[in-house]
Amino acid sequence: MQITTIILAAGKGTRMRSELPKILHKIASRSLLQHVYDMAAQLENNCVKIVVGHGAEQVTTALKHFDADWIEQTQQLGTGHAVQQVSDQLADADTVLILYGDVPLLKLTTVKTLIAHVNERSLALLTVNLDTPTGYGRIVRDAAGRVSKIVEEKDADANEKQINEVNTGIMAVQGRQLKKWLSQLNNSNAQGEYYLTDVIEMAVADQINIVTSQPETEDEVLGINNRMQLSYLERVYQQEQANSLMERGVTLKDPLRFDQRGSIENLGQDIEIDINVILEGKNSIGSHVKIGANTHIKDSIIGDNVDILANCVIEDAVVGQGSRIGPFARLRPESVLAEDVHIGNFVEIKKSSVAAGSKINHLSYIGDSTVGAKVNIGAGTITCNYDGANKFRTIIEDGAFIGSDTQLVAPVTIGKNATIGAGSTITKDSPENQLTLSRAKQVSLAGWQRPVKKET
Ligand code: UD1
Ligand code: CA
Repeated sequence: MQITTIILAAGKGTRMRSELPKILHKIASRSLLQHVYDMAAQLENNCVKIVVGHGAEQVTTALKHFDADWIEQTQQLGTGHAVQQVSDQLADADTVLILYGDVPLLKLTTVKTLIAHVNERSLALLTVNLDTPTGYGRIVRDAAGRVSKIVEEKDADANEKQINEVNTGIMAVQGRQLKKWLSQLNNSNAQGEYYLTDVIEMAVADQINIVTSQPETEDEVLGINNRMQLSYLERVYQQEQANSLMERGVTLKDPLRFDQRGSIENLGQDIEIDINVILEGKNSIGSHVKIGANTHIKDSIIGDNVDILANCVIEDAVVGQGSRIGPFARLRPESVLAEDVHIGNFVEIKKSSVAAGSKINHLSYIGDSTVGAKVNIGAGTITCNYDGANKFRTIIEDGAFIGSDTQLVAPVTIGKNATIGAGSTITKDSPENQLTLSRAKQVSLAGWQRPVKKET
């Protein structure tokens, strides 16, 4: 069976009050349209066609990586008109699935059920019962309980307005039938629009069964029209992800204060995550990892038994097993730490490798450096990697000890087991096993007196 999925995404989204087209707004760092597309892309033998209108250029540019056909609906004359734009691209035998670009949390299982109901004699419609159905198209059923039509809120009479079963807008239907009905749509209704929903009445007239199914939750079919709804569905989505992590054996101190904006490629066991942690992009997290409060980790690989204390920012980094990071540490892109490395408070690492067992515990900047194993870098050490125009590397070999408040002016190499005296500015290579220091000799002036204020 060949499926054609049509995603309707031409609407304006006025109530977002945004320069950005509505469907480019994001839930968990992924645009609304991307959520819908990613779900549809999991269907086999599926070809995706997206109807765009408002901000079409912005949308197609932002999402040009989609394997989809973009169809422009230059004037938004209704949902039926939107689907008409694709009509001549539909094959008779296709199962046509219609989705909305602003309904981001629809589940694959729900869509699969819908598709399974489609054949020459049946059309599948996703409906939902709402306590407050205001604004939605109502599902009108005959005495036998069969769907006879959909009536839009603005066209509904008082009795029809009482109906709680509403149209989600999502349906699946055979291509041949859909094309026929699309060609018969008109806009003589309260809104002067071409309603896709009118195909239901036409289907009934053609003796086609309308098979309805419901989503597991209402949230699956909620569309986004404003920023309150955007934030609501963000939380729904985050709670789902939190539940899934907990099912996989992660302890979350508070699932309401956890955000995952991306994927977790590898997930170990018995991971503990404290409050206000954000995991962004593609991360891997080993077993027995603890992540402290207010930590942001992006595109990183965290080894087994790593302890990340509170308030760390880690991006595009690798943290070897058994390492301890933070509190208040920042690992910038291309930081690669081997096992049992300690990075303490107010330490920034950038584009540097640190070999096993090394410690950089306080107030330091290590950039463009290669740090060997079992190196101890004292408080306030700075690699001066930048001369204002070019960047240079600092090499600190195994077992070196860098005294506190030292500047290492790159390019420079500190030899194996070398010791650098505190307060030094090192501009030349420092030989292995020796003490190197660059410090004015300390003097004390006996008989020196503090100045006193002059009498006037
Ligand atoms: C539509 C349904 C209604 C249903 C509701 C569910 C019709 C006539 N009505 O109502 O029964 O209860 O959705 O939310 O179908 N779009 C286009 N081009 C257009 C018009 C709309 O691409 O010319 C897209 C929008 O971007 C949106 C979707 O279609 O993604 C639905 O449009 P919207 O205006 O929200 O539909 P409603 O009139 O609210
Ligand atoms: Ca709507």
